[in-house]
Amino acid sequence: MSTETPESAASPPARSPSTPSRRTFIATTTAAGGVVAAGGLVAGPALLGAQEAAAADASPSSRVSLTVNGERHIVTVDNRTSLLDLLREHLDLTGSKKGCNAGACGACTVLVDGRRVNSCLILAVRLEGAEVTTVEGLARGERLHPLQQAFIDQDAFQCGYCTPGQIMSGVGCIEEGHTGSADEIRESMSGNLCRCGCYVKIVRAVEQASGRK
Ligand code: FES
Ligand code: FES
Repeated sequence: MSTETPESAASPPARSPSTPSRRTFIATTTAAGGVVAAGGLVAGPALLGAQEAAAADASPSSRVSLTVNGERHIVTVDNRTSLLDLLREHLDLTGSKKGCNAGACGACTVLVDGRRVNSCLILAVRLEGAEVTTVEGLARGERLHPLQQAFIDQDAFQCGYCTPGQIMSGVGCIEEGHTGSADEIRESMSGNLCRCGCYVKIVRAVEQASGRK
């Protein structure tokens, strides 16, 4: 006949001093990122200081100085910031539109040092000393740029979402001299999509501004 008492049956097995309990294991490894091997806690990195941890978490940023529409800006931005986000989110220049954000639609077209670029594809930190022109920088006071006026005259937009990019691309197209024919204009502006299908009138507007019509 068994003489075991209820208390002894419920008692946990004896634990040697070097064996970590479940609670000790979790508390120790969570706090210090330590390593427990059979037989006990054997290794663990030093605790990171709060400042070191914050520095490790922080995204690298850089200072960049550039001119936008004739105005010089010095900004500190996350190194991953695109020119488009710099314009829209930091400088409140929301004329340039974010369509695909992947270089496929041209809605974000601006001029950098006179050349057409998709601003969603360019890192702002690479533009130290650059001259950027956006659609906001085309008019002279109340006087519209000839291509802006031509878009109105030719009724070259519907929803207008692609229009700032189309106009900036058109300005580049004219300055590059790719306006010899409607086909050449179409080819030169083929990276700018218009989901409303205003292509015929957009080409007419570029022709008007370039003096072909
Ligand atoms: S938003 Fe830049 S190409 Fe589409
Ligand atoms: S006018 Fe609507 S996308 Fe071009």
